[in-house]
Amino acid sequence: MADLSVEVAGLRFRNPVLPAAGPPGRTGRALVRCAEGGAGGLVAKTISVTAARPPIPNIAEISHGMVNSELWSELPPERWFEREYPLAKTAGLPLIVSLGYSADDIAELAPRARPFADALELSTHYIGEDAGPMVEAIHAAKAAVDVPVFVKLSPLGREMARAAELAQAAGADGIVAINSFGPVLAIDPTNGRPRLGGPEGVGWLSGPSLRPLALRCVRDVARAVDLPIIGVGGVSHGSDAIEMLMAGASAVGVCTAAMLRGPAIFGKIAAEMGAWLDAHGYGSPNEVRGLALRSASDFWETGTPVVVTDACNGCDLCEPSCPYEAITVVDGLAVIDYEHCERCGLCLTRCHRGAIEWVAPGPGAGTAVTQPA
Ligand SMILES: Cc1cc2nc3c(=O)[nH]c(=O)nc-3n(C[C@H](O)[C@H](O)[C@H](O)COP(=O)(O)O)c2cc1C
Repeated sequence: MADLSVEVAGLRFRNPVLPAAGPPGRTGRALVRCAEGGAGGLVAKTISVTAARPPIPNIAEISHGMVNSELWSELPPERWFEREYPLAKTAGLPLIVSLGYSADDIAELAPRARPFADALELSTHYIGEDAGPMVEAIHAAKAAVDVPVFVKLSPLGREMARAAELAQAAGADGIVAINSFGPVLAIDPTNGRPRLGGPEGVGWLSGPSLRPLALRCVRDVARAVDLPIIGVGGVSHGSDAIEMLMAGASAVGVCTAAMLRGPAIFGKIAAEMGAWLDAHGYGSPNEVRGLALRSASDFWETGTPVVVTDACNGCDLCEPSCPYEAITVVDGLAVIDYEHCERCGLCLTRCHRGAIEWVAPGPGAGTAVTQPA
């Protein structure tokens, strides 16, 4: 059985699945429930110097994800120091305290959070895309506390690597990537109104639709800096978490899936990770960390899609979705017309039975090669 425990910036988690800052850790009691649900460690909802007053409504489920215009905690910081953090500590797991936003805010909050914090996480969500305020916030945190300081990056187009480099240079001990993406708009078709209240009705996207963006950002950060990464964005299953590790993360954060399915999801994802590692012959999460960084960065498939006749059941998912009309299901079996097949690869991912595979011509079958210049 794989040993799921991981060490991240000196914190030892019993498994790599943590709540991401947000509603799963909105109170001390909620954090205890995350621990009971099997989380490897705890991350509390972001607090700031005042209680947040978010627009109403501020959370909506949409297809393949969620939009929200929640802000930081609606509880004042005193309440966290007096009641919520002490309660969270009774769970006996490492606690990451999330703080926002400016250097002045961090300088005020960090020393008061320190008695409860095994690490700090600094949210950069509302301080703009310029790195200056982030760097100042890191300096303020490092001057105030002796525990590891993580910086949580919001998705920044192509600039993730640069932001991570600046965070590392400023003294950050780890990166959390990514926060939700936006601003985005969801509309209620029954009345034509935005689903979220507040200015313009815009919010932030999270959940499964965020996952490919999160994976790319985590990989960019992992390539750029030598810091541990907590990968966040659309993790709902053990295999999602494994992909995050492959992109370079040491642990994962889960918010939307825990909101929709409850805190038992942490233990479920961890168990699924363990089963995956066992099935694939790995002894620990660290053994898969960064696998996607080692694969060719510029790869080009030489093979051809071929139907595995034993596996094909003629279900007809592939035929209508082939952009080149190159697949026809004949007598319960998919048949590929190679005159028209352009080898785009969609059918391999469309088939849920693994009944279409790349078969490379000649010796070296099945290998991918670097794209010719
Ligand atoms: C309703 C809601 C509230 C959130 N609040 C916070 C927060 O207080 N601090 C923070 O850093 N991120 C916050 N996030 C972002 C999540 O921590 C996470 O980065 C993002 O949702 C992507 O992960 P997911 O797809 O697992 O939800 C929030 C997300 C949601 C959906």
